[in-house]
Amino acid sequence: MFRQTPAFRLFLPVFLPVFLPVLMLAWSLVVTGPQWGAQSGIGRAAAQEADPGAAPGAAARPLVLRASPALIDSGFLAFLLPRFSLKTGIDITAQPIAGKDIVPTDIPAGADIALILRSAASTGGTIVITQKTNDGATRRYALVLADKVPPGARRFARWLTSPIGQRTIAQFRKDGRQPFAPPEKRPDTATTVIFTGNAQRGENLAYLNCGRCHVIGPRNRMAGIGSTPSFSALRALGNWRERFSTFFDRNPHPAVVVVNGLSRPRAEAQTTPMSPVVISRDEFKDILAFVAALEPADLGAPVAHQ
Ligand code: HEC
Repeated sequence: MFRQTPAFRLFLPVFLPVFLPVLMLAWSLVVTGPQWGAQSGIGRAAAQEADPGAAPGAAARPLVLRASPALIDSGFLAFLLPRFSLKTGIDITAQPIAGKDIVPTDIPAGADIALILRSAASTGGTIVITQKTNDGATRRYALVLADKVPPGARRFARWLTSPIGQRTIAQFRKDGRQPFAPPEKRPDTATTVIFTGNAQRGENLAYLNCGRCHVIGPRNRMAGIGSTPSFSALRALGNWRERFSTFFDRNPHPAVVVVNGLSRPRAEAQTTPMSPVVISRDEFKDILAFVAALEPADLGAPVAHQ
């Protein structure tokens, strides 16, 4: 027989009613914990990572591609898009663009991606597809992405400009002919497909803030400072993106142009005849979007700029 110690005498009235429920609660937390986690932000983020095409909230909404009616009518997209979907699980529906069949300065409303006939007069986007028409003419189609697109749209852009995507374009046959082909030059994959900022605004900003020294385009073709490279010549350089995104750090700009929040603070003692032009970060993004859409100068052999 147990001796009835004081501790034992407390067991029934105190331990059972107080500690046992606490223990059971703790145990149930351990068991159901993972479910709680799945409802938290961390769980959702992990679930989305598994499917990069998924938009927050809406599971796997099909992306909307707006394209020139000619591309849709040819049956080409009906050939191309399922091949991308099969590989990635990302669905894309094609809709004809309304209005004029030219590359807009921004993405058409309601679209994640646009594939648009590029007329001689328009610039913008990256040419990813060429078409030989029956009368021997060549049409070029440009891919345009908005600044804030779902990851699936970027994935499509990467796929379409990759060797596999470009080969897929050439595989389409209609009446025994191959109407579509990749462009002569491999498109500039990661660099030019993403439109950031507003290229139209960027064009004006470039004329205004950079056109004093650089030739920007037709509007100041005869201006600019002779030894200063034109924007289209700079755009033709392989590392144009890096040069432009850091131009404010490169001579002679620190004394001339300040990008708010990006430029280093200037040494006070620095004496310049003129105070520098100040542009905002958004204006800088607009200029970058304009440069991205610029037709690179055709300088023949690869250019080495310094
Ligand atoms: C005061 C004249 C002047 C202005 C204004 C100016 N630049 Fe320049 N920029 C130059 C000169 C000169 C060079 C060539 C520097 C060299 O070759 O070392 C240059 C070179 C560049 C380069 C190539 C840099 C490199 O190191 O490869 C970029 C990119 C550039 N400028 C962008 C811009 C942008 C964008 C603006 C407007 C926001 C602008 N520049 C305004 C004079 C100017």
